[in-house]
Amino acid sequence: MPHASCHWSYLLGLLWLSQLWAAGGAGYLEDNYPATVIEDAHLNTLQLLAKYKYPGEAHSVTTEDKYILQMHRIPRPGAKPVLLVHGLQDSSATWIMMGPYSGLGYFLYEKGYDVWMGNVRGNRYSRGHVKLNYNTDKSYWSFSWHEIGMYDLPAMIDTVLAKTGYQKLSYFGHSQGTTTFFVMTSSRPEYNAKVHIMQALAPVAYMTHVKGPLVGLGRNLLKVLGERAEVTPHSNLALDNCMLSAATVQTCMYYVWKIIGKDTAELNKTMLPVMFGHVPAGANSKQFLHYLQLQLSDRFCSYDYNAKENQRIYGRATPVDYALERITAPVALYYTQNDYLSAVEDVKRLIKRLPNVVEDHMYPNKKWNHMDMVWGISARRLAHPRMLEVMRLWEAGGPQNGTQSTREYIEETTSTAETVQEVEDAVDDAEDEMQDATKHETR
Ligand SMILES: *[C@@H]1O[C@H](CO)[C@@H](O)[C@H](O)[C@H]1NC(C)=O
Ligand SMILES: *[C@@H]1O[C@H](CO)[C@@H](O)[C@H](O)[C@H]1NC(C)=O
Repeated sequence: MPHASCHWSYLLGLLWLSQLWAAGGAGYLEDNYPATVIEDAHLNTLQLLAKYKYPGEAHSVTTEDKYILQMHRIPRPGAKPVLLVHGLQDSSATWIMMGPYSGLGYFLYEKGYDVWMGNVRGNRYSRGHVKLNYNTDKSYWSFSWHEIGMYDLPAMIDTVLAKTGYQKLSYFGHSQGTTTFFVMTSSRPEYNAKVHIMQALAPVAYMTHVKGPLVGLGRNLLKVLGERAEVTPHSNLALDNCMLSAATVQTCMYYVWKIIGKDTAELNKTMLPVMFGHVPAGANSKQFLHYLQLQLSDRFCSYDYNAKENQRIYGRATPVDYALERITAPVALYYTQNDYLSAVEDVKRLIKRLPNVVEDHMYPNKKWNHMDMVWGISARRLAHPRMLEVMRLWEAGGPQNGTQSTREYIEETTSTAETVQEVEDAVDDAEDEMQDATKHETR
């Protein structure tokens, strides 16, 4: 892909140049964005929760294969637990970083849930291992999302259930957070029974129709990196280099849109520094390679090593399809029409294969992209209330009236406007408290 590599060298050149300018010309960020937004770009998940006056806890989880993960919790002891799992190169922050008026994590907390936000191996919060050092042991970086589904999710689910005393939780996954759920429940089907409902946001299993000029570029880059290399660890690089001038913002956004699908209306431009401050959050090259294999093979299957290694691991020369028919947990899917990574055709194919789809929801706005139901300006109003109603219904075992579908039930019972108003009132109260507290401190 000569075209793509040309773009790549352009980007590298630009980043290099901007490093030079950075020394002399700081100030664009400070001059154009509110101080509180710049602060949010630098805070971690727990610091964000503290700043906005929400309770926050960190919980350490050790997996069967000895990785040590850190979960973040907005605790509401005694309340029903929900587990939220982020996508590739993302972290627990994704559920709250757009602020209390926007984040799904805050929304669920305000609606009375005990909110647990996972961090999968390799991201900035989950870099521990009983024996290996992520910095010096190459073998730490040997996983794809297969291992995340096999070990990280079961360990996180078991931790949440053990700490809360509940038998089941509701699961929210975004993007890779859905892939890993499908890996888990097809490979370790006993985990189906621990889940009231799987809420799949921008689901990714089949990748045949993935769009994006960067895919070819990624493939070439990954060939050079190999299977064991950390890809873009979390740092201030994106923030420092993208927020240098209007031109660098535009260049960075050009690439962001090429990955997630362009939708300028839903992204709050004031919050750009926060996005660049939190993403990328770190991942292994093999996670990308595994996705690229799916795109080429037109399958949803385990990692393709080589014939000999496949024989040793799988007992056959080729990788094994994930047994989607074993996913008996109720699954609700929410997807968009301008999503480069989770294409409508691929989602529809997945829906046909899943045995227990209870909600199939494609958002009507043709511009919505891969991130809009998580970060979008309208997500609180147009996406989250339905998710809440679907969850409530399936926590209670689904529609009791045999003739009614989830959709009919939701359409009869939900008043989106009310749900949103209640949460906004709660956030306002928290904000008033915060202002009182600040006044108190400054006095
Ligand atoms: C965008 O973000 C800023 C800063 O957090 C916030 O004040 C503003 O209300 C947001 N705009 C919208 C449309 O949500
Ligand atoms: C069951 O649902 C159907 C369709 O929504 C409705 O017509 C019927 O009245 C419901 N029956 C009961 C007992 O709620």
